[in-house]
Amino acid sequence: MNDDVLYSQEFSILGKDFSNAGSVSTEIKSILKEIGFDPAVIRRAAIASYEAEMNVVMYAVRAVVRLSATPRTIEIEFEDEGQGIADIEQAMVEGFSTATPEMREMGFGAGMGLPNIKKNSDDLRISSEVGKGTKLGILIRTNQADG
Ligand SMILES: Nc1ncnc2c1ncn2[C@@H]1O[C@H](COP(=O)(O)OP(=O)(O)OP(=O)(O)O)[C@@H](O)[C@H]1O
Ligand SMILES: [Mg+2]
Repeated sequence: MNDDVLYSQEFSILGKDFSNAGSVSTEIKSILKEIGFDPAVIRRAAIASYEAEMNVVMYAVRAVVRLSATPRTIEIEFEDEGQGIADIEQAMVEGFSTATPEMREMGFGAGMGLPNIKKNSDDLRISSEVGKGTKLGILIRTNQADG
């Protein structure tokens, strides 16, 4: 069993920055490819981080993202400053969305982001404080099949 950190890096995301939206998750995906993880594992990490990144762009002011990979685990933490989530249980429900008409025109707002993050991760931790921000901890185990 080897828990040595293979890779660790921080990124930042700016809210409302739709022109760069998706770039952090794209970078995370290429780092994980470079390390050589299983494509199914990389796909899950990429989906989860893309959805979390878009939520920061749409609903927060800025975020720090911390990626940490070991041979057995990929951890991606999104810590944002922003409006926060008043009711996390409600936010997790498929179809629940507070997206504006403008966001819906861009193709967002299906209310599927958080449920997809949950589906694609082995553990998801969310904590939030209204008016302060939200913290999302995504854990993906590398030693299991796509699920
Ligand atoms: N980082 C965040 N800060 C504040 N609110 C958030 C954040 N992430 C999610 N939310 C809230 O939770 C709701 C549900 O998020 P979710 O990602 O599931 O759906 P969505 O972003 O509205 O639509 P989709 O992801 O399908 O485009 C959002 O509409 C928003 O109200
Ligand atoms: Mg979303």
